[in-house]
Amino acid sequence: MSAPKKLFIKTYGCQMNVYDSERMAEALGGEGYVETKSADDADMILLNTCHIREKAAEKVYSELGRFKGLKAEKPDLKIGVAGCVAQAEGQEIMRRQPLVDLVVGPQSYHRLPEMEAKARTGEKVLDTDFPEEDKFEKLKNRPKAKRGPTAFLTVQEGCDKFCAFCVVPYTRGAEVSRPADRILREAQDLVERGVREITLLGQNVNAYHGAGPNSDMTLAQLIWELDKVDGLERIRFTTSHPNDMQDDLIEAHGTCAKLMPYLHLPVQAGSDKILKRMNRAHTAESYIRLIERIRAARPDILISGDFIVGFPEETEEDFQATLDLVEEVKYGTAYSFKYSTRPGTPAAERAQVDPAAADDRLQRLQALLTKQQREVQDSMVGRDVTVLFEKAGRFPGQMVGKSDYLHAVHVADCDRAIGDLARVRILSSGANSLAGALIE
Ligand code: SAH
Ligand code: SF4
Ligand code: F3S
Repeated sequence: MSAPKKLFIKTYGCQMNVYDSERMAEALGGEGYVETKSADDADMILLNTCHIREKAAEKVYSELGRFKGLKAEKPDLKIGVAGCVAQAEGQEIMRRQPLVDLVVGPQSYHRLPEMEAKARTGEKVLDTDFPEEDKFEKLKNRPKAKRGPTAFLTVQEGCDKFCAFCVVPYTRGAEVSRPADRILREAQDLVERGVREITLLGQNVNAYHGAGPNSDMTLAQLIWELDKVDGLERIRFTTSHPNDMQDDLIEAHGTCAKLMPYLHLPVQAGSDKILKRMNRAHTAESYIRLIERIRAARPDILISGDFIVGFPEETEEDFQATLDLVEEVKYGTAYSFKYSTRPGTPAAERAQVDPAAADDRLQRLQALLTKQQREVQDSMVGRDVTVLFEKAGRFPGQMVGKSDYLHAVHVADCDRAIGDLARVRILSSGANSLAGALIE
């Protein structure tokens, strides 16, 4: 038998890309590839890219440039670009960077094995179609390898919301939900391979409406089906849109013990004028009322969010409304970004905010969010939480895991194994994590 070929994948962007990279590795595993952690000894390099902000997309070109020497040394090395930049600018990548042999959009990953074979013959291959067939069904796991205790599972992909700033509806296409039986089979398989916690993924995960046994299912119904899977201990989902937060999902947060008390619910801005121009179809007030209802169902839930500052025509007053909303909601974690103009999106055509003003707003917002995040984290001290251990810590006998609220927790003198769950009393709160002790 010939030595296995080596595959190096570098993943940018969101969790869905992480999931997709795993699937691509499995698909190419069937063609005799094994993964390597270093580009230097690879026979194939795949960059799984993100197009969400300008900087994310530019990284791809600088990274590709770095492989020039490697390719000169190893003429058989194949270089591929996957993900959202591939989808958005496939042709341009081929033109701008002759090192690239293969470009594959997110809806065509099941065709990778054929594409790889073609690329091996010296042909340049590009596939950025939105095919009819179900890529996930064709990307079935091949090796039944043991896995770590946490996993992502894509249940829904694409988006029909068309927020005025966002490329996702163009790079990932229209919203599609996977049928529930396939998701449940995949979850069962993950659990058999050692997974205890599954995070359901979708660009608009709470818009899930996949085919169930009798009719379409909601995300909450899917979660209740997953709740029955023995050995699966924790369920999470991300990312949700405020307008798809249905009653049964809110209720599940109060009644489903496996559903973790953590919700990522981006609002983007606090000014109704800006929300309208973003095409978000919700107001600051409706978002705050929604958070109240979620907290009524699950009072200790940790709320996470996304924010954009410096969206076209945002005034200081509009920005103040974002700060006011943050003060009111109190976030446990949050991600905030300076607006980045994306070609082809409606907002790209509008009057842009002065970059210095946007930088200043971003700093002020981040200062407030960091303060809140720290307060929420500090408030865990003295409380008992459940920790799922994910790895050994830096010190002998120390283990690190995540609490129900997704805080990293360090536990000293810990005789538990990776994948174990244990009750832990939180003793102190550090810069980015908590420390606690096992409750015997
Ligand atoms: N589907 C998710 C997230 C999509 S992208 C949702 O609807 O919330 C993740 C985050 O990137 C967004 O929530 C938004 O805050 C940010 N983002 C998207 N487009 C952006 C842009 N053009 N400039 C800056 N941030 C952007
Ligand atoms: Fe982008 Fe808006 Fe869709 Fe989220 S809901 S993926 S921000 S268009
Ligand atoms: Fe980026 Fe595409 Fe995800 S643009 S955030 S990799 S959906």
